[in-house]
Amino acid sequence: MSNLIDGKAFAQNLRQTITTQTAELEKKHHIRPGLAVILVGEDPASQVYVRNKEKFAIECGFKSETFRLSTDTTQVELLALIDQLNNDATIHGILVQLPLPKHLHEEEVLNAINPLKDVDGFHPVNIGQLSIGKPYLIPCTPLGSLLLLQDKLGKDLSGKHAVIVGRSNIVGKPMMQLLLSQNCTVTIAHSRTKDVASLCREADIVVAAVGVPKLVKGDWIKKGAAVIDVGINRIEEDGKTRLVGDVDFDEAVKNAAYITPVPGGVGPMTIACLLRNTLTAMCLQNNIEDPNKL
Ligand code: GUN
Repeated sequence: MSNLIDGKAFAQNLRQTITTQTAELEKKHHIRPGLAVILVGEDPASQVYVRNKEKFAIECGFKSETFRLSTDTTQVELLALIDQLNNDATIHGILVQLPLPKHLHEEEVLNAINPLKDVDGFHPVNIGQLSIGKPYLIPCTPLGSLLLLQDKLGKDLSGKHAVIVGRSNIVGKPMMQLLLSQNCTVTIAHSRTKDVASLCREADIVVAAVGVPKLVKGDWIKKGAAVIDVGINRIEEDGKTRLVGDVDFDEAVKNAAYITPVPGGVGPMTIACLLRNTLTAMCLQNNIEDPNKL
């Protein structure tokens, strides 16, 4: 299908680029990116994500350190580890895998990470820098979505009308800031929006990030629009479980000029952008020019 956006292939390509850049920067500056990932508890999905982050970091030539902490780790212990990593010059990126066990205070934990090492881009300083158009580290899923869009539509997205369905802090809102920084006209639709369908029908770009299976219908998509589906929902269909996005793919694909499938669209971009951010973080912390500046 020619209008399919192959996120898996794009992510693989991006990881290859990061690998090459890592080798070049190490040769020139005698320094290589270091990524620390902290996992607290036994959540099975988180264990898979963390293993993949570790595997791809090593593949790119990074120093990779994974801290697997028991479920009963205290807030004080976790903050002490973050403090230690904040002060470790060989670690440029720190990621605390979410969700954390309920007894831990997520906001305090995330805010304890040095913003220049916050490769998730969740720290208020990073959110603020993005919103004033001077980003340090950009949240991975919105960044990956933008890279996929620019690959298909070209770098210049000026004047395009983007409708984002969903207003989360980790996808919807940073996606709005990113597209605005690229001179798009941006509308955010959410659960209280009166007529999401007609807003979407006006859009050159639709980004769906609400976590509701197949919420965005095929006839909401204007002919020739680009569709980015951030949703990953597990549903039961014909007695089997399968993954679907927030967009009714089978219908939307008939109208869209470009569309991401689920799985294999935005998903693989998240880890690739985490690696990209780790390289950016190393550059920021060492006054090295970032080869991947947007
Ligand atoms: N859990 C699921 N996705 C993510 C992510 O992007 N970052 C972190 N830190 N935890 C997650």
